[in-house]
Order: sequence, then C-alpha cells, then structure tokens
Amino acid sequence: MKKLITFRVNDREYEIAVAPNRTLTQVLREDLNLLGTKEGCGVGDCGACTVIVDGKPVNSCLVLAVQADGSDITTIEGVARGDSLHTVQQTFVEMGAIQCGFCTPGMVLSATSLLDKNPRPTEREVREAISGNLCRCTGYQKIVEAVQEASRRMKK
Ligand code: FES
Ligand code: FES
Repeated sequence: MKKLITFRVNDREYEIAVAPNRTLTQVLREDLNLLGTKEGCGVGDCGACTVIVDGKPVNSCLVLAVQADGSDITTIEGVARGDSLHTVQQTFVEMGAIQCGFCTPGMVLSATSLLDKNPRPTEREVREAISGNLCRCTGYQKIVEAVQEASRRMKK
C-alpha cells in the first residue's frame, strides 16, 4: 500500500504517494523527473546517486523514499541559482574536473556539502569527502584541485 509522504526538494514542497519499496533515487528520477541524480551500482558503492538530505550527503539508492518523509533534500538541480552556476560547478568546468556526466553530480554534491560545513578543507579532507564517489576514468586530481579552488573563491 502506498504511503503519503511530504518532503522538500530544491526548496519546493512535495506531497506524494509512494510504494514502500521504492528508493529515493527512483522517486526523484521517476516521479519528480529530477534526472540529474544518477543510478550507477544501486547498492551503495559508487556515489553516483548522491543527494544532500538534511545537510548530509547520502547515497539515495540506499534510502527508501518513505524514510525521507519530512526531509529537506538538495539534488544537483538545486545547486545552481538560475543561470548562475554554483562556485563548485564553475570551478569544475573551468579546471577540467567534469569528467563523465554520470559521476559529476554526486561529486559536486559531496563537495558542496563539505564546503558548507568546512569552508577551508585540507587536500586530505577533500579526498575523504569524495571518497564515496567512485571514478573509473582519469582520476581525482582535477576534482580535488577544483574543490580547493572553489574553497578559495568562496572565502572571498
Ligand atoms: S547508485 Fe547509489 S551508490 Fe551507486
Ligand atoms: S567521473 Fe565518471 S568515471 Fe570518472
């Protein structure tokens, strides 16, 4: 039987009926049409499905939508402000840190969540923050540099 849940996604309130076995990834993508959240492994290993729930990055493939009842969620669609990219997105673009489109939304959300809590992270802290976001292509160096540059720009 479906359960009625309410949550806030990208500053917008939703009230929807969801089956108890549907994941937050599925509901975001299929019911809310927020296709920026990707599903890679579906079992919590890759981080492609990362969204921010109540201030923390989580793997939305591991969260049932009913568990998100009452939560405040940010997906990649909620990071930019209108036509203005978030500083993290801008530095990713400028510094060649956008590699494949599958992992990038999750990387950006893990990075923005880190900088919200820790505006001046060390390289090690950046690497730890994105350690749940797996990349199988060119590696993490440019991503780490872009997050550190975003940190410098956001301090100004
Ligand atoms: S799809 Fe969720 S961690 Fe891989
Ligand atoms: S960013 Fe997707 S595999 Fe590297």
